[in-house]
Parts: sequence; C-alpha cells; structure tokens
Amino acid sequence: MPDGALTNSKIVAAYREKTPSSSSRATQAREVFPSGLVHDSRKLDPYPIYVDHAQGAHKWDIDGNEYVDYFGGHGALILGHNHPTVLAAVHAQLDKGTHFGACHELEVRWGELVKQLVPCAERVRFTSSGTEANLMALRLARAFTGKSKLVRFKGHFHGWQDHVAFGVTSHFDGTPTPGIVDGIAENVLLAPPDDIEATRRIFEAHDDIAAVMLEPTGASFGQVPVTREFVAELRKIATEHGVILIFDEVVTGFRVAPGGAQEHYGVTPDMCSLAKILAGGLPGGAITGRADIMELLDFEKAAEKGFEKIGHQGTFNANPMSAAAGIAALELIAKGDVCSKATATADSIRAQLTAVFEEEQVPWACYGEHSGFFVFTNPANEAITPSTFDPFEQAHETLKLSGPGDLITKLRLGIMVNGVDMSAKPGGVVSAIHTPDDVDKTANAMRQAVRMLKEEGDIAG
Ligand SMILES: Cc1ncc(COP(=O)(O)O)c(C=O)c1O
Repeated sequence: MPDGALTNSKIVAAYREKTPSSSSRATQAREVFPSGLVHDSRKLDPYPIYVDHAQGAHKWDIDGNEYVDYFGGHGALILGHNHPTVLAAVHAQLDKGTHFGACHELEVRWGELVKQLVPCAERVRFTSSGTEANLMALRLARAFTGKSKLVRFKGHFHGWQDHVAFGVTSHFDGTPTPGIVDGIAENVLLAPPDDIEATRRIFEAHDDIAAVMLEPTGASFGQVPVTREFVAELRKIATEHGVILIFDEVVTGFRVAPGGAQEHYGVTPDMCSLAKILAGGLPGGAITGRADIMELLDFEKAAEKGFEKIGHQGTFNANPMSAAAGIAALELIAKGDVCSKATATADSIRAQLTAVFEEEQVPWACYGEHSGFFVFTNPANEAITPSTFDPFEQAHETLKLSGPGDLITKLRLGIMVNGVDMSAKPGGVVSAIHTPDDVDKTANAMRQAVRMLKEEGDIAG
C-alpha cells in the first residue's frame, strides 16, 4: 500500500483489525481488476470493505461489521436497501422471466410514471445507465439543432463517456484525458460553474452550440451548489440562443422532489437524463424530453417528415426486472413523502455534524441541500465558523479539494471503525428510512473520528 502517512496511523490499524477478511479479498481482487476495483469511487486506502448484505439504511461487511450506509447504492436507494414493496415486485418478476427480448407491459407503466412525474418528459426512452442517457441526450440535441458543440460546467459529473470525461476532476483547460480524441474535446466548451455571465459570453461567442448540460443542483449533487437564479437564467439564455437545455437528473431525479430538480425550481429543461432511483436499485436509465426532439427516435415520424432517424438499441433497455423495481419505487415516491423525509433527515445530519464541529472546535463545516450532505474540511485552513458556513462564499475549486494528504482517507476510516460509511467527498446521500438513531450514530462516529485525528496530530485541538 503506497500509504506514507497512513503507515503509522492508529486509525488505519483499527480499521485493519476490524476488517481482515476485506483485506484478503482486496488482495485477491488486485489480481483480477485494475486496482482491485470495478468503480473508481469505491477506492479506499489501504483497501475497501467488501459488503456481504444490506438492509434498510445499513450494510454489513464480510467481517460482520455493521455500517450506517450513506452510499445508498451510489444514490439509487432513496427507499433504502431491500424495501419490501420493491423486493416483492422484483421477486414476482423473477419468476416470470428476466428478459423477454420483447415489448412488455411493465415498460409502458414505467414510462408512464416517468411522464407523470417529470415535467419535461413528453416522451421517454429507456437506456441501461445514466452515462448512456446523457450520450443519447447529446446526440439528440446535435441532430435536432444541426450544431455540434456541448457546453458543460467545470466539475459537473455526467458519467464516463468521452464528451464528459474531462474537466470533471482534471483537465479543466478542456484538453482531453487519455484515450479521447481531440475532435471530441474541441466540440466541448467548459464554463465556470458559478458564473452565469461567463456562460452568456460563451453563448454569444459561438453560433454552433447544440446543447448545454448541467447537474441542476450543482456539481456532484450540490457539493458545488448553484442557485435557483443561475438555473433560471440559464434556461433563459439557452432559449434566446436556440440551445437545448439538458438537466442531468441522474442523481436529483425523484430525489430533490418527485419530479426532480426541475419540479423544485419550476424550471423545465428541454431534455433530462435519469437513472439511479428511476430503476429502484436495479440498473437502468432514461432520456426524456420534448416530443419534437424525442421524435428523432421515431420510425413513423422519420418516414412522415423525411428525416433520418437516430438509431438506438441496448440489450437491457427497460429490462423487466429493472422495470418492476422502478415502478414499485416510483409509485411509492409519487404518492408519498419519500423525498421530503430524506431531505428532513439530511437537514438533521447537517445540523448535528455542524454541532460536532462547533463543540470539537474544528474549523470544518457540514453543508448541502435536499438529501445530500458534504463535509468541508477547509483545505486552506481559513477561519470559519461551522454554523455560519456558506459554500457560495468559497471558490468552486476549494469546495472540491479534499484537504491535505491522507486526511480524508483517515477521516473516512475513523468514521468507518465507528460504524458509518460515507463517500470520499466526504459526504453522503440520505434515504427516506434513515432514522434519528442513525443520525445520532453518524454524529457520534464523526465526533470519534475527529478526536482520533486530533490525537494523531492531523487536526488542531
Ligand atoms: C449526475 C450524474 N450523471 C450521470 C451519472 C452516470 O450514471 P451511471 O453511473 O448510471 O452511468 C452519474 C453517476 O453517478 C451521476 O451522478
């Protein structure tokens, strides 16, 4: 393990002591997968935990350790793990068949629910993932406008396909990351994520922009937040310039509100991409939007109007298992208070973690909106007061910096040995079934981790 400062850490030692089976599984995995991983966000030094099972808001690793889970299936599980209604729907479908290679009734119901909930969804096309949905959104926008360029915002994440793979964690100058051809990068314009005037200037300087795409609550579900005014103004200037506005609602869809960020803001994009909650915890995505754009996928319209249809296949599009889980989840979200419950619990996590930082006199903050929370570890060590911290006063680069050296890794490990699993932001997504007891455990885990970091001299106190 190339861990430097991690080698002599008591926190790391405590983690190793609790997770020997995960350690040996990780060693085995390194012989199979690059870095032993199948998803970059699951990287953790000295090794990640291997999870055996999960229930509700909790998961258990193969050493039997229990964690309050804030990965939430990378945001897919607003209903928590194994929600009984979703499970029953999936079990029922399993007995009927996992893949018909044919149209089926569930796909129609699933699509109708998307139309019912999502304001921009005049037509729907299912994909297998959010990455695919965004790829199709871009292709549709280009075909519809006859223009080539995509405007994106620095730090906003839209999956891993070529057009969106740079300017997220690196290459903010717009140069392509390895493996991406120059021609693609030349057709992407990166805008600062917090400056609508800069975006307006980009629109004015280029007459070949097909689309502008954003995470509508800001980069990484609001780790770098945007304001409602920013989004509303973007809608306005996109319309003025004939640019297709695409909301990437892969995370925010069915989470910020049943109809996503567009419902919350009252701002309707031309298209939006969906995934995660859409499929109730199984794989799935969708592109939705204006009927006149989506008709580019329509055989009859193409014949009638004489345009060349856009092709779209995908072995697992609207897979019956995903459709069954998705319908169960969306029906619960449509009729209940799922989104508002998750948001209320996240409010309480933000408040409790803020109190921990105040009490421990650590110049950190917990912030976020909706059902997400982020810990600001103050990489520049500014004098901040946790309870009055305002992320809008920070440079967007600073909000995404994870602090010096191995601090975040040790913070995460310290939280994990105290029974809570957060992402590397650091932060998490909250479900509708996290309880007040989970929130207390989370605050306690943070307090213990902060004290461990103080003991190791990583933070003052
Ligand atoms: C905002 C956003 N867009 C797109 C994606 C990509 O979705 P998928 O992982 O389903 O390809 C993600 C995944 O985390 C995401 O957070």
